[in-house]
Amino acid sequence: MVRSALSIGVLSATVLLGGVALTNSASAEPGAAAAAPSKAVRYPADSLRALGDRIGLRIGTAVNMDELGSNTDYTKITAEQFSSVTPENVMKWQLVEPTRGTYDWAPADRLVAFAKTNKQLVRGHTLVWHSQLPTWLSSDGYTTTLSNDELKALLKKHVQDQVKHFKGDIWQWDVVNEAFDDDGKPRQTVWYKAWGGLGYIADAFRWAHEADPKALLFYNDYNLEFTGPKSNAVYDFVKTLKAQRVPIDGVGFQGHLDTQYGFPDLQNNLQRFADLGLKVAETEVDVRTFTQAAPNVNTPTDPLAPYAQESYWSRALKACLAVRECISFTPWGFGDTYSWIPGWFDNPQEGAALLYDADLKPKSQYYVIQQDLALAAGAPRRNGPGAGH
Ligand code: XIL
Repeated sequence: MVRSALSIGVLSATVLLGGVALTNSASAEPGAAAAAPSKAVRYPADSLRALGDRIGLRIGTAVNMDELGSNTDYTKITAEQFSSVTPENVMKWQLVEPTRGTYDWAPADRLVAFAKTNKQLVRGHTLVWHSQLPTWLSSDGYTTTLSNDELKALLKKHVQDQVKHFKGDIWQWDVVNEAFDDDGKPRQTVWYKAWGGLGYIADAFRWAHEADPKALLFYNDYNLEFTGPKSNAVYDFVKTLKAQRVPIDGVGFQGHLDTQYGFPDLQNNLQRFADLGLKVAETEVDVRTFTQAAPNVNTPTDPLAPYAQESYWSRALKACLAVRECISFTPWGFGDTYSWIPGWFDNPQEGAALLYDADLKPKSQYYVIQQDLALAAGAPRRNGPGAGH
């Protein structure tokens, strides 16, 4: 599939209306000012980030630190197309403290430095989770040899140390990730068991807020997009957090979509969480579909699947555009080769979930998103990157 004539027409108009330059320069942002790079950052006027800038919407990406810096095309696209970055793995506990008592911040520091250079904001991901814990703490997130008291002290130190380390550099923190099951019940993680309930969540938000009062603090989860027991349970829970004056600023909708499940009631769900007085964000968007067996894991089995994927990407973005409190739209990476999907969903095989193909060439999904952003000049303007409380 190729970029349509309409798309080219709309974007040409954008470039002309936007002025003579083929590139835009990033304007200084609060928070990034202290470490402002000396030279202006330039990126194409029809890049996703430039089009998002016009309505104050940050377009983000998850970043794989094995590629950033070493892979030229990957690095260029990261800088030019996105105004926010999320470490795909390097801020997870397993990677920052692989040996108990010894931190390794180096890869995450490198991403923060890259973001400063390129005038991007950083979504910190993630402080409290049951998955990707260091093995000395728990091998599966549900069982551990450590005592409840030890776990409580460890989580407090982890949240405080990590938020302090990155103080002033993080726009949004995913403080807690995936604390509920699909049936709406609290996930029985080591944290839940140590506290004897969900009290660890309020504690984590308070510790994070003390350590960096300006960072926006998010609860993040998947399947919140679909109205149902999980979304309802999280909705009720964050409402109680707000009522208890827990410093929560937003809710992240991961947005791992799949053409086999139908498109969710996303806009209404974003809106009802926003109506609680919260910001919302789409934090890990990808749109997977059934694909061929290895090595062609990013070739859809149905040649019409990309049309469904285009539609899902477009509707996911438009749901965010329609909700003023939706402050960022972040695909979970941008090249099918680097996507977590083929490795994770392999029986049956799924893939082809991102905006760029295995050669880092934009797919039709990219041009649909680009066109939607080009047409979004009338969407409500976001309020900028400021802190919420
Ligand atoms: C995934 C990464 O993309 C993989 O590289 C890693 O092996 C496993 O985790 N929800 C989340 C993300 O919040 O952190 C996950 O990222 C994808 C699902």
